Amino acid sequence: MLKELSFNIGGHILHSIFWDNLSPPGKGGGKPGGAIADEIQKEFGSFDRFKKEFSQAAASVEGSGWAALTMQERITRPLIMQIEKHNTNVYPSFKILMVLDVFEHAYYIDYKNERAKFVDAFWNLVNWDYVDKTLGLVK
Ligand SMILES: [Fe+2]
Repeated sequence: MLKELSFNIGGHILHSIFWDNLSPPGKGGGKPGGAIADEIQKEFGSFDRFKKEFSQAAASVEGSGWAALTMQERITRPLIMQIEKHNTNVYPSFKILMVLDVFEHAYYIDYKNERAKFVDAFWNLVNWDYVDKTLGLVK
């Protein structure tokens, strides 16, 4: 019962973040600016490197789940994580800045089994302003 509750709450929270970190077609994507750009540069060396690591994390989530960019609230370092199903409660005190839904329902209609293509398309829709604003709540 608690597991089911956690699944449903996790699903609600993760989907809410997901819709917020997406922009309408043609309005998102590109490279981030602001503090989030600095954090990515500092931790991953370059935006391209970050993009590659996040894409790999998303493509390789086993079964259903999420890729997430998070910020650890105490040490304030960004970390990419994989979330199995909807469980948001695995890592304590990590604020989720951005997620990508890689449950099959998220991409099957447009991409069939080609999750990697869906992950590529995601980069054209990221709402970096939202991600940067969320980072501002942590730092
Ligand atoms: Fe979903």
